[in-house]
Amino acid sequence: MKELLDKRVVFVVGKGGVGKSVISATLAMRVAKAGMRSIVAEMNGAETMAALFDHEPVGYETHELAPRVHAISVTPNRATEEYLLRMLRFRLLYELVFRNRYIEPFMNGVLGLSDLISAGKVMDLEWERVNGSHGPSGKGPHQWDLVIVDSPATGHGLSLLRSPKAIMDLTRIGPMHTNAKQIQELLADRSRTSVLLVTLAEEMPVSETLELAADLRKHVDIDIAGVVVNGVPPKLFASEEAAAQFDEVRAVGLAAGGQAAAAVRDAERLLRDRARAEEHIKRLRGELDLPFAEVPMLARRDLDAEALTSLGTHLEWLA
Ligand SMILES: Nc1ncnc2c1ncn2[C@@H]1O[C@H](COP(=O)(O)OP(=O)(O)O)[C@@H](O)[C@H]1O
Ligand SMILES: [Mg+2]
Repeated sequence: MKELLDKRVVFVVGKGGVGKSVISATLAMRVAKAGMRSIVAEMNGAETMAALFDHEPVGYETHELAPRVHAISVTPNRATEEYLLRMLRFRLLYELVFRNRYIEPFMNGVLGLSDLISAGKVMDLEWERVNGSHGPSGKGPHQWDLVIVDSPATGHGLSLLRSPKAIMDLTRIGPMHTNAKQIQELLADRSRTSVLLVTLAEEMPVSETLELAADLRKHVDIDIAGVVVNGVPPKLFASEEAAAQFDEVRAVGLAAGGQAAAAVRDAERLLRDRARAEEHIKRLRGELDLPFAEVPMLARRDLDAEALTSLGTHLEWLA
């Protein structure tokens, strides 16, 4: 698992709200700690990174949010514009095609094209060199040691990863086929690209993660690096001794009533949450033979760079 930091591209995938963006940012902070430069590419125009780092929206441009931590927000429209400008090479045609809104039915008609173009943007970032050059034949050090893709929620994340093959099947030949093939090669390259599954230790997210892992294995030729179980309720007692002491005071506290009883009930609730989470994690670990990391639920909801750094210590198995 330590190979994750040696990879070039990591797709962070999972159900909406499980913490993909938080884990992407946490990973970026962890990479920065190792002295490496990463960029988090948010898909579909999301701007969660900027919010986490208290930065204004980054848009379709690279911004440094913390030392060695960068972000870009990839919108399919801007990526398409960039792609067409490069493919068609001259503006006039672009004006004709794009401004005429001819492109929209075209895009909608060709299944997966907009996904392919977003995936193509990821490949561009992987290609980017310090000297500013792009493209497959670039020379010199890479601009980004790791490209972290904060993927759209499950369904769209899957279609993003499946888009190169879909387009290859559709086109068979031509520049778009060549392009899709290059992207497909990057995705399938175990030495460069991985998927990181993110989930919560809850019934539904665990079931969906199992489905997602099965779908990835069945439909996408890509490495799955591991599973991050996010938002795990912390252990209430550090030691068996403390747990045993709680058992002793429990009855006394409940009998005392008032605040003492309320505290006991709070503690009991936390113990139950933790026990339930452990059951879900057990199920997941039983079904998936992959490296796991457990990231705790922080009490505070407005996470910042400091909180992300502390969460990063739970990804130590990456390094
Ligand atoms: N480990 C954590 N501790 C506390 N809050 C968290 C944690 N992980 C995520 N959150 C919060 O949960 C919400 C959803 O996280 P987010 O990363 O935006 O999910 P996703 O990108 O998968 O939709 C956010 O409000 C985020 O701040
Ligand atoms: Mg998100």
